[in-house]
Amino acid sequence: MTSPEAVRPVTSMPETTLREMTWRDIPSLTDLEPLLFADDAWSEQTWWAELAGRPRRSYVVGERSGTVVGYAGIDCGGEVADVMTIAVATCARGQGLGSALMRWLVAQARRAGTEYLMLEVRADNALAHRLYSTAGFSQLAVRRKYYQPGDVDALIMRMSLRDLTDDTTEDVTI
Ligand SMILES: CC(C)(COP(=O)(O)OP(=O)(O)OC[C@H]1O[C@@H](n2cnc3c(N)ncnc32)[C@H](O)[C@@H]1OP(=O)(O)O)[C@@H](O)C(=O)NCCC(=O)NCCS
Repeated sequence: MTSPEAVRPVTSMPETTLREMTWRDIPSLTDLEPLLFADDAWSEQTWWAELAGRPRRSYVVGERSGTVVGYAGIDCGGEVADVMTIAVATCARGQGLGSALMRWLVAQARRAGTEYLMLEVRADNALAHRLYSTAGFSQLAVRRKYYQPGDVDALIMRMSLRDLTDDTTEDVTI
Protein backbone atom coordinates (compact mmCIF):
# COMPACT_ATOMS: atom_id res chain seq x y z
CA MET A 1 0.00 0.00 0.00
CA THR A 2 1.76 3.14 -1.15
CA SER A 3 -0.65 5.99 -0.44
CA PRO A 4 -3.96 6.71 1.30
CA GLU A 5 -5.51 6.96 -2.15
CA ALA A 6 -4.56 3.36 -2.96
CA VAL A 7 -8.04 1.97 -2.29
CA ARG A 8 -8.73 -1.47 -3.70
CA PRO A 9 -11.66 -3.84 -3.27
CA VAL A 10 -11.33 -6.99 -1.18
CA THR A 11 -12.44 -9.51 -3.79
CA SER A 12 -14.56 -11.72 -1.53
CA MET A 13 -16.33 -8.67 -0.07
CA PRO A 14 -17.24 -6.19 -2.84
CA GLU A 15 -18.32 -3.50 -0.39
CA THR A 16 -15.16 -3.62 1.69
CA THR A 17 -11.90 -1.93 0.75
CA LEU A 18 -8.48 -1.90 2.34
CA ARG A 19 -6.61 1.40 2.50
CA GLU A 20 -3.74 2.89 4.42
CA MET A 21 -4.69 4.09 7.92
CA THR A 22 -4.43 7.84 8.54
CA TRP A 23 -4.74 10.04 11.63
CA ARG A 24 -8.33 10.79 10.56
CA ASP A 25 -9.19 7.19 11.49
CA ILE A 26 -8.09 7.59 15.12
CA PRO A 27 -11.56 8.51 16.51
CA SER A 28 -13.07 5.40 14.87
CA LEU A 29 -10.22 3.25 16.17
CA THR A 30 -10.52 4.50 19.72
CA ASP A 31 -14.27 3.77 19.59
CA LEU A 32 -13.66 0.21 18.35
CA GLU A 33 -10.72 -0.74 20.60
CA PRO A 34 -12.59 -1.25 23.91
CA LEU A 35 -15.20 -3.32 22.08
CA LEU A 36 -12.58 -5.60 20.49
CA PHE A 37 -9.87 -5.67 23.18
CA ALA A 38 -11.67 -5.34 26.48
CA ASP A 39 -8.64 -5.73 28.76
CA ASP A 40 -5.97 -3.87 26.80
CA ALA A 41 -7.55 -1.38 24.43
CA TRP A 42 -5.14 1.05 22.75
CA SER A 43 -5.71 4.69 23.68
CA GLU A 44 -5.82 7.67 21.34
CA GLN A 45 -2.24 8.47 22.40
CA THR A 46 -1.11 4.96 21.48
CA TRP A 47 -2.58 5.30 17.99
CA TRP A 48 -0.84 8.64 17.45
CA ALA A 49 2.45 7.07 18.55
CA GLU A 50 1.94 4.03 16.31
CA LEU A 51 1.23 6.17 13.24
CA ALA A 52 4.28 8.29 14.07
CA GLY A 53 6.33 5.09 13.84
CA ARG A 54 5.91 4.89 10.06
CA PRO A 55 7.51 3.75 7.79
CA ARG A 56 8.86 1.03 10.07
CA ARG A 57 5.29 0.55 11.28
CA SER A 58 2.49 0.30 8.75
CA TYR A 59 -1.24 0.15 9.29
CA VAL A 60 -4.24 -0.58 7.12
CA VAL A 61 -7.99 -0.25 7.66
CA GLY A 62 -10.87 -2.18 6.15
CA GLU A 63 -13.67 0.22 5.27
CA ARG A 64 -17.28 -0.49 4.40
CA SER A 65 -19.63 2.32 3.30
CA GLY A 66 -17.26 4.87 4.81
CA THR A 67 -17.05 3.05 8.16
CA VAL A 68 -13.92 1.42 9.55
CA VAL A 69 -14.78 -2.25 10.20
CA GLY A 70 -11.30 -3.68 10.64
CA TYR A 71 -7.63 -2.87 10.87
CA ALA A 72 -4.18 -4.36 11.14
CA GLY A 73 -0.63 -3.22 11.67
CA ILE A 74 2.92 -4.50 11.43
CA ASP A 75 6.43 -3.60 12.54
CA CYS A 76 9.14 -4.44 10.01
CA GLY A 77 12.50 -3.76 11.59
CA GLY A 78 14.91 -6.41 10.40
CA GLU A 79 14.83 -10.16 9.80
CA VAL A 80 11.70 -10.51 11.90
CA ALA A 81 8.44 -8.62 11.47
CA ASP A 82 5.86 -8.41 14.25
CA VAL A 83 2.10 -8.24 13.94
CA MET A 84 1.16 -5.25 16.11
CA THR A 85 -2.60 -5.73 15.89
CA ILE A 86 -5.39 -7.25 13.82
CA ALA A 87 -9.08 -6.84 14.50
CA VAL A 88 -12.47 -6.93 12.80
CA ALA A 89 -15.66 -5.33 14.15
CA THR A 90 -18.16 -7.88 15.41
CA CYS A 91 -20.67 -6.97 12.67
CA ALA A 92 -18.13 -7.74 9.92
CA ARG A 93 -16.67 -11.01 11.20
CA GLY A 94 -16.74 -14.37 9.47
CA GLN A 95 -16.73 -12.78 6.01
CA GLY A 96 -13.05 -13.01 5.18
CA LEU A 97 -11.88 -9.57 6.27
CA GLY A 98 -9.57 -10.96 8.98
CA SER A 99 -8.00 -13.26 6.38
CA ALA A 100 -7.61 -10.36 3.91
CA LEU A 101 -5.93 -8.26 6.59
CA MET A 102 -3.61 -11.19 7.36
CA ARG A 103 -2.66 -11.50 3.68
CA TRP A 104 -1.87 -7.78 3.67
CA LEU A 105 0.38 -8.24 6.73
CA VAL A 106 2.24 -11.12 5.08
CA ALA A 107 2.67 -9.11 1.88
CA GLN A 108 4.03 -6.13 3.85
CA ALA A 109 6.52 -8.38 5.64
CA ARG A 110 7.65 -9.92 2.36
CA ARG A 111 8.05 -6.51 0.70
CA ALA A 112 10.26 -5.47 3.63
CA GLY A 113 12.41 -8.55 3.04
CA THR A 114 11.83 -10.11 6.45
CA GLU A 115 12.31 -13.83 7.00
CA TYR A 116 9.79 -14.39 9.76
CA LEU A 117 6.48 -12.91 10.85
CA MET A 118 5.71 -13.22 14.56
CA LEU A 119 2.75 -12.53 16.79
CA GLU A 120 1.43 -13.07 20.26
CA VAL A 121 -2.09 -14.27 21.01
CA ARG A 122 -4.10 -15.15 24.10
CA ALA A 123 -4.43 -18.91 24.51
CA ASP A 124 -8.19 -18.48 24.97
CA ASN A 125 -8.67 -16.58 21.68
CA ALA A 126 -9.90 -19.46 19.51
CA LEU A 127 -10.98 -17.35 16.53
CA ALA A 128 -7.63 -15.60 16.25
CA HIS A 129 -5.77 -18.87 16.74
CA ARG A 130 -7.72 -20.41 13.87
CA LEU A 131 -7.00 -17.43 11.62
CA TYR A 132 -3.28 -17.66 12.35
CA SER A 133 -3.04 -21.43 11.94
CA THR A 134 -4.81 -21.27 8.59
CA ALA A 135 -2.44 -18.49 7.50
CA GLY A 136 0.56 -20.71 8.24
CA PHE A 137 1.68 -19.71 11.72
CA SER A 138 2.88 -22.35 14.15
CA GLN A 139 3.37 -22.13 17.89
CA LEU A 140 6.90 -21.30 19.00
CA ALA A 141 6.61 -20.73 22.75
CA VAL A 142 4.21 -20.13 25.62
CA ARG A 143 4.39 -17.34 28.21
CA ARG A 144 2.55 -18.75 31.20
CA LYS A 145 -0.06 -16.51 32.84
CA TYR A 146 1.13 -13.58 30.74
CA TYR A 147 -2.25 -11.85 30.43
CA GLN A 148 -3.69 -10.34 33.57
CA PRO A 149 -6.23 -10.41 34.99
CA GLY A 150 -7.14 -14.06 34.51
CA ASP A 151 -3.75 -15.81 34.34
CA VAL A 152 -4.17 -16.43 30.60
CA ASP A 153 -1.17 -17.83 28.74
CA ALA A 154 0.30 -16.01 25.73
CA LEU A 155 1.12 -18.11 22.68
CA ILE A 156 4.05 -16.89 20.62
CA MET A 157 3.49 -17.87 16.99
CA ARG A 158 5.79 -17.64 14.02
CA MET A 159 5.48 -17.97 10.26
CA SER A 160 8.43 -18.50 7.96
CA LEU A 161 8.23 -16.31 4.87
CA ARG A 162 11.13 -18.10 3.20
CA ASP A 163 8.94 -21.12 2.51
CA LEU A 164 6.28 -19.13 0.67
CA THR A 165 6.08 -19.48 -3.09
CA ASP A 166 5.70 -16.51 -5.42
CA ASP A 167 2.09 -17.58 -5.92
CA THR A 168 1.44 -16.62 -2.28
CA THR A 169 2.51 -13.05 -3.03
CA GLU A 170 0.02 -12.92 -5.90
CA ASP A 171 -2.71 -14.10 -3.52
CA VAL A 172 -2.97 -10.69 -1.85
CA THR A 173 -6.52 -9.64 -2.64
CA ILE A 174 -6.28 -5.94 -1.86
C1 LIG B 1 -9.66 -12.84 14.90
C2 LIG B 1 -10.47 -11.93 13.98
C3 LIG B 1 -9.58 -10.79 13.49
C4 LIG B 1 -10.96 -12.75 12.78
O1 LIG B 1 -11.62 -11.86 11.87
P1 LIG B 1 -12.69 -12.38 10.80
O2 LIG B 1 -12.97 -11.27 9.85
O3 LIG B 1 -13.86 -12.98 11.47
O4 LIG B 1 -11.85 -13.52 10.07
P2 LIG B 1 -12.30 -14.36 8.79
O5 LIG B 1 -13.71 -14.04 8.40
O6 LIG B 1 -11.24 -14.18 7.76
O7 LIG B 1 -12.28 -15.84 9.36
C5 LIG B 1 -11.06 -16.40 9.82
C6 LIG B 1 -11.33 -17.82 10.30
O8 LIG B 1 -12.15 -17.81 11.48
C7 LIG B 1 -13.35 -18.52 11.25
N1 LIG B 1 -14.44 -17.80 11.89
C8 LIG B 1 -14.71 -16.51 11.82
N2 LIG B 1 -15.78 -16.21 12.56
C9 LIG B 1 -16.17 -17.38 13.12
C10 LIG B 1 -17.20 -17.73 13.99
N3 LIG B 1 -18.08 -16.85 14.49
N4 LIG B 1 -17.29 -19.02 14.38
C11 LIG B 1 -16.45 -19.94 13.91
N5 LIG B 1 -15.43 -19.65 13.08
C12 LIG B 1 -15.32 -18.39 12.68
C13 LIG B 1 -13.52 -18.53 9.76
O9 LIG B 1 -14.30 -19.63 9.33
C14 LIG B 1 -12.10 -18.63 9.28
O10 LIG B 1 -11.61 -19.94 9.40
P3 LIG B 1 -11.27 -20.78 8.08
O11 LIG B 1 -10.35 -19.91 7.26
O12 LIG B 1 -10.60 -21.98 8.63
O13 LIG B 1 -12.58 -21.01 7.42
C15 LIG B 1 -11.73 -11.39 14.73
O14 LIG B 1 -12.42 -12.46 15.34
C16 LIG B 1 -11.42 -10.32 15.77
O15 LIG B 1 -11.25 -9.15 15.45
N6 LIG B 1 -11.35 -10.69 17.07
C17 LIG B 1 -11.17 -9.69 18.14
C18 LIG B 1 -9.81 -9.05 18.09
C19 LIG B 1 -8.74 -10.10 18.23
O16 LIG B 1 -8.83 -11.03 19.02
N7 LIG B 1 -7.65 -9.92 17.44
C20 LIG B 1 -6.50 -10.82 17.49
C21 LIG B 1 -5.58 -10.42 18.59
S1 LIG B 1 -4.18 -11.52 18.69
